[in-house]
Amino acid sequence: MFYLLQFILLSYITSSFCVLSAQYPGSEKNGQELLLCRKCGADVADSHYLFSKSSSGAQKTEKQNLFGQQNVTVQTLVNPFGIKFDVVTAEKARCENIGPQQGADSWFPGYSWRICACPHCGQHLGWTFQRTQDSSTEKQSSGNIKTFHGLILKNILGENFTDSLIILPKMYKM
Ligand SMILES: *[C@@H]1O[C@H](CO)[C@@H](O)[C@H](O)[C@H]1NC(C)=O
Ligand SMILES: *[C@@H]1O[C@H](CO)[C@@H](O)[C@H](O)[C@H]1NC(C)=O
Ligand SMILES: [Zn+2]
Repeated sequence: MFYLLQFILLSYITSSFCVLSAQYPGSEKNGQELLLCRKCGADVADSHYLFSKSSSGAQKTEKQNLFGQQNVTVQTLVNPFGIKFDVVTAEKARCENIGPQQGADSWFPGYSWRICACPHCGQHLGWTFQRTQDSSTEKQSSGNIKTFHGLILKNILGENFTDSLIILPKMYKM
């Protein structure tokens, strides 16, 4: 698991650079789901902010019904070490961004990336992408969002799924 090594290395080298990007708006749910860190259960995003941001390098792209949303774009992205991640993209997420901006090997040309870790437990949740090509004429155009996050599906959980986990054992206890 090279990305883990890389993550550990990055956190070791650059722990003093860690910045909390707390753009999270709060408690509005709109009948949608909070996305939780699968490791510790902290809420890290809201399904309301899922959006489609296509990577030209995606190995596979499909629409799934996830977290109370229809047609969520799920992309299979492969890192330079051949490790595959099923990723959803979100305009906002609570990330502890770790390490310096990495320009190389970005899945999204024009964006640099940092590791996005759970602000509560440090679990690797995905990446924060920040636009680097800052041509002022394009600033307002949609699809050219300044920052966004790619979240690894297997590292997050919809809140309603955890509800069902809590309910199931009770049924067995009766
Ligand atoms: C998730 O559960 C909440 C609270 O019970 C509910 O309001 C919401 O509609 C549910 N979302 C989905 C997608 O089922
Ligand atoms: C999701 O995709 C299906 C099939 O393309 C379409 O019929 C449906 O209207 C879409 N739903 C939303 C909310 O976009
Ligand atoms: Zn966590």
